[in-house]
Amino acid sequence: MVVENTLILPDTDAGVHHASELLRSGHLVALPTETVYGLAGDARNDAAVAAIYEAKGRPSFNPLIVHLPSVEAAHRYVVWNEMAEALAHAFWPGPMTLVLPLKEGHGLSPLVTAGLETVAIRLPAHDLARKVLTVSECPLAAPSANPSGKISPTTAGHVMAGLNGRIAAILDGGPCPVGVESTIIGVYDGTPRLLRPGGLSMEDAEGALGRPLAGAGAGITAPGQLVSHYAPGAKVRLNATTREGDELLLGFGEMDCDLNLSETGDVTEAATNLFPALHTLDALAPHGIAVAPIPNHGLGLAINDRLNRAAAPRD
Ligand code: TXA
Ligand code: MG
Repeated sequence: MVVENTLILPDTDAGVHHASELLRSGHLVALPTETVYGLAGDARNDAAVAAIYEAKGRPSFNPLIVHLPSVEAAHRYVVWNEMAEALAHAFWPGPMTLVLPLKEGHGLSPLVTAGLETVAIRLPAHDLARKVLTVSECPLAAPSANPSGKISPTTAGHVMAGLNGRIAAILDGGPCPVGVESTIIGVYDGTPRLLRPGGLSMEDAEGALGRPLAGAGAGITAPGQLVSHYAPGAKVRLNATTREGDELLLGFGEMDCDLNLSETGDVTEAATNLFPALHTLDALAPHGIAVAPIPNHGLGLAINDRLNRAAAPRD
């Protein structure tokens, strides 16, 4: 779908209503969530969902997350269970996505789930996203609002740079406070599984469940976890403490570097700064980006997941 001009809508009631009208009539709108900007479309509308894949250049085997306003709304689409209840009670609305079995007669476009018998759902905490979910009365399929494989967007400017002319509008809610995508937890087969680390720490999720999270398991994964992803134009080198050649150095903690994710060594602050820093460095078109080691606790796990993909060999 080619759109002449992508509108920037303001963070006002008028902006929310305009975004909701566009979504109800099958158009695509990028919305702020607390994690990253999502590229939203009506999850019941085949044409809208197909347009999401097209606008992102996303392979159609990679299913989307459905955003909902309430747990009651979730009951319409999924078969609920006790693990989902414990996690939803502790962390929704918030940066967590649950993968659950689809309920019969759910009414979602089959393109959303890429033919799987499970669906990923999330209640976002961001005020604007919640308002649009309420006003539009649409379940909203929304992947991150970036071209497939590129750095995720945490500002309206990032979305514009990647998708201008490919989507109807962007609702501008300023920078996203969490900065990395939601943690995806599979609760569809009796064993809670961490499918993607993200904005909710694994430690917190395990605390609420009272048991450890299993890995994705053989053959079961978030299909979107392609190895090369979040990729800036430059080659990325990890666990660096100094620059090599004319690399730019992205630091963590007290050190001499070009840009610092967190001078105080705080992994939550570093998560918020990660994608903006990669966008900033990428815009300078360096020969290489070197990144300091990041501890693997708390949101450090999500940061290292994204950095490992950014550094992976490209096809
Ligand atoms: O924070 C977020 O999660 C953001 C905001 C916009 O909500 N969304 C996001 O969507 O990161 P996306 O499409 O970039 O990543 C969704 C991930 C993909 O890796 C996809 O494969 C996985 O969710 N996924 C979706 N449905 C699934 C399912 N039924 N089973 C396993 N993984 C699934
Ligand atoms: Mg994404």
